[in-house]
Amino acid sequence: MAHAAAASSCRSAPPEAAHPVALDLLAWYDRHRRSLPWRAKPGEKPDPYRVWLSEIMLQQTTVAAVKPYYERFLERFPTVASLARAPTEEVMQAWAGLGYYARARNLHSCAQAVTERNGGVFPSTEAELRTLPGIGAYTAAAIAAIAFDEPAAAVDGNVERVITRLFAIEEPLPAAKPAIRALVEPLVPRDRPGDFAQAIMDLGATICTPRRPACALCPWMQPCRARATGLQETFPRKLEKVQNPLRRGAAFVVIRSDDTVLLRTRPPKGLLGGMAEPPTSAWEIDYDPAQAILDAPLEARWQRKPGVVRHVFTHFPLELTVLTARISARTEAPEGMRWVARRDLANEALPGVMRKVLAHGLGELSPWKTSKTPPRQGASG
Ligand code: ADE
Repeated sequence: MAHAAAASSCRSAPPEAAHPVALDLLAWYDRHRRSLPWRAKPGEKPDPYRVWLSEIMLQQTTVAAVKPYYERFLERFPTVASLARAPTEEVMQAWAGLGYYARARNLHSCAQAVTERNGGVFPSTEAELRTLPGIGAYTAAAIAAIAFDEPAAAVDGNVERVITRLFAIEEPLPAAKPAIRALVEPLVPRDRPGDFAQAIMDLGATICTPRRPACALCPWMQPCRARATGLQETFPRKLEKVQNPLRRGAAFVVIRSDDTVLLRTRPPKGLLGGMAEPPTSAWEIDYDPAQAILDAPLEARWQRKPGVVRHVFTHFPLELTVLTARISARTEAPEGMRWVARRDLANEALPGVMRKVLAHGLGELSPWKTSKTPPRQGASG
């Protein structure tokens, strides 16, 4: 009868799911880890400069988009001291196209702080790392864990997805963040915390993906509570996002007959701060083309290019109409603007959206094809 009692209790209340353990994830990582340019190979000592650089680049940006930038950046600035010494414009130019430009300015300030305060040596604890420019809670934990094997819990969007599924957390994000952190911290092993941080990142990127997760291949399938109910794709729960209204504007692409193009530099602070752009009208919700043309940088016969350039910033979507004009080589640049030889455009600190504008306005003459603007994850600000 003992058997019957056990069987009936099984039917009425399913047994508690097993608790996930780091060892299962680490064993999976040892077989399936991604080979990434910034990642130390097994047995190799991680280089804190490379770990830091990659973590800053990977904030809000995909691995695929970061790889070519990371490689070029490292070639140009092989050490934290060389980055600290470089002029800001050079750093911004190397970053141009990667988005979220405040990251590049903070990166430069951080390199200078590490070089001046610490002789080029990165601090190893989360608390010290957090005092540096551009290093927030996630990045400090990721660097401490990956570069210094500190038992720090690095919780980003991927980890949030894994954990909310693993524990079937019903509370929506962002309110669930403290609960998620409280569940990750005890999972972090004393042994190999750096590998654990990278393993959970890889799990989120390759198995526990936002759509159609490959649960059958997951080392944590057994203890996953969301999987047990078949509802894994519905986690994390999220509150409905408020959609910010579309802003529209006109961008003016002026080509002088000596094959130069008119550019200006945006103010150092704020959206796309310090980056180059062709002049534009104000970007407005109630855009009026007749009003926008009054913002043209000079008098010319403006021609509207069919179509628009679209871009999504963190806080709003943008649609730019492109107006082009050809003018004589004697025309002076309006105050605060400059003529840049078309062949030198690729050396300017032009953000992705402004490259798209120039590609649209210059057509065949552009150094970029419209489809060649760098890939990027979601929004950029
Ligand atoms: N996302 C954030 N940091 C990462 C890393 N070190 N490797 C892969 N993806 C990441």
